[in-house]
Amino acid sequence: MCGIVAYIGSREAYPIILKGLQRLEYRGYDSAGVALLDKELKIYKKKGKVSELESSLIGQHLPAKSGIGHTRWATHGEPSDRNAHPHCSPSGKLAMVHNGIIENFAPIKKELQKKGYVFKSDTDTEVLLVFIEDIFINDAESLEAAVRIALKRIIGAYVIILLDESQPDTLIAARKGSPLVIGIGPNEHFLASDASPIIEYTKEVVYINDYEMAIVKPDELVLKNPGNERITPFITKLDMDLAAIEKGGYKHFMLKEIFEQPTAVFDCLRGRLDAKAGTIRMGGIDRQLDLLKEAKRIILVGCGTSWHAGLLAEYVFEELCRVPVEVEYASEFRYRNPVIHPGDVIIAISQSGETADTLVALENAKNQGAFIFGVVNVVGSSIARLSQAGAYTHAGPEIGVASTKAFTAQLTVLYLIAIKLGYAKGTLSRDRYLHLINELALIPDKITEVLKTAPEVACLAGKYKNARDFLFLGRGYNFPIALEGALKLKEISYIHAEGYPAAEMKHGPIALVEESLPVVFVATKDAYHEKLASNAQEIKARKGNVLAIITERDTLFEEIADDTIAVPASDEILAPLLSVVPLQLLAYYTGLAKGLDVDKPRNLAKSVTVE
Ligand code: F6R
Repeated sequence: MCGIVAYIGSREAYPIILKGLQRLEYRGYDSAGVALLDKELKIYKKKGKVSELESSLIGQHLPAKSGIGHTRWATHGEPSDRNAHPHCSPSGKLAMVHNGIIENFAPIKKELQKKGYVFKSDTDTEVLLVFIEDIFINDAESLEAAVRIALKRIIGAYVIILLDESQPDTLIAARKGSPLVIGIGPNEHFLASDASPIIEYTKEVVYINDYEMAIVKPDELVLKNPGNERITPFITKLDMDLAAIEKGGYKHFMLKEIFEQPTAVFDCLRGRLDAKAGTIRMGGIDRQLDLLKEAKRIILVGCGTSWHAGLLAEYVFEELCRVPVEVEYASEFRYRNPVIHPGDVIIAISQSGETADTLVALENAKNQGAFIFGVVNVVGSSIARLSQAGAYTHAGPEIGVASTKAFTAQLTVLYLIAIKLGYAKGTLSRDRYLHLINELALIPDKITEVLKTAPEVACLAGKYKNARDFLFLGRGYNFPIALEGALKLKEISYIHAEGYPAAEMKHGPIALVEESLPVVFVATKDAYHEKLASNAQEIKARKGNVLAIITERDTLFEEIADDTIAVPASDEILAPLLSVVPLQLLAYYTGLAKGLDVDKPRNLAKSVTVE
């Protein structure tokens, strides 16, 4: 979390940095700031969103040709002007922005305080900056050398960018564990947490790797390893256009991304699934098919919504491929000393490809001999690069903080893998294989149908927006969707919501049921349908409100439920790709009805690069 942008070249830096910060605001919006260098170093920063910073600088003449900027998701120190980045060194000559966490900041701070330094903020970032300047003044022949010495002592994750008043033509950046991309233009360079602030100016970028340092001048990019040796930058061409990161007429990114799902799923299937020929071709899978067939166990690792995709995949892989599957929260897996055997395959699921917990969990598992297969959305991201094989989800950039289209694209890739693997292993018959391929090919059009329910869902959101709590219940393939529906509602509307396997309800949560409690049943037709209807009757008997996502023409639930939203029929295993969509809409319209900022829910950030 936290977004950083920097520019050095021949244009005015401030407008480029400001626009970049607006594009990166999904990474955190507790405060924003810029440091600009035009003869002397000036820092401007404000608590709140980037728009607050922008308003505070209206009318200012800011001609600097180099600068650094930051939008913050607070870790150390409350959101405030003084904890906002960039931070300034004691001499007033250095400014720095940082994304990540310095875990051992406390002992370093104590040492510096003993030397007489006084700190202006509560942040770990200021400690690192003061530490760098102290080394620079006392022990190093250059700022670059001081940064290198300081970082050897640092435990934690960082991307830092430094601006030095005495070297106006140079930015110094370094990375470990947090992302950094550098865009290359004619006589200019752009630095950012992801490519979205850069795409408007250049498509040539270099992804910086852990432990690398960049010394950036307008006309030169020097990359070095910790041993101070030069490395040749690997230039990549960005495959993304500007329209993909703009709202395109929608009120919010979240709504745009919900409506992009037919295209996202189609793009994910394109070139891979050929329903006529009855084939699934995926380079990353085809090359590793033997390894996957022989896997003793598949472990799915992710966080949040990506973990929900993993949970659904557990049901699907076990059913279609008859292989033992475990699903792990990356944050638990990384610390639990899990038992990993060489024949284990880890499938890592991540939209951003930068989630710190997932990244470290994978590094640990890889070191223990597991094979890492990545299901990632962001091309070139850290998890994509760490994976030994993988399949991109091709959902396009997801800017809304709550994940929507990335989730359905993750599911699509996981279905493709499971169907292909099940057929290759012989655990899936040819008839069922062909049936599933045909059904999967129909999903984009069926999602388009589901999206037509948006006005109905908006009405329900109006009806239930003042509820204090919600329960989401589902069984089988729809249980992970109940969890996802609850997570979406919590994030976007701040209504307390819990997801449960429907039959578990009577083991505790049923105590919550009273007249005012809305209970959402994810009730598309499947093997448990009648049983789920009995669970819904149990809610009705206690005067709860039942709101059901059903398969069209399902009279059973129409009779029980207070409200229903119907989705087209499909194979029960694929129905989650449809049943999740009304739940995303419900979260969106509830947040909207409550007047909340759905693209930037409080306390959240899109890319969680701290543990
Ligand atoms: C919820 C949401 C989060 C992410 C989680 C993992 O709407 O977006 O729960 O799913 O932070 O992020 P990625 O997939 O980027 O690893």
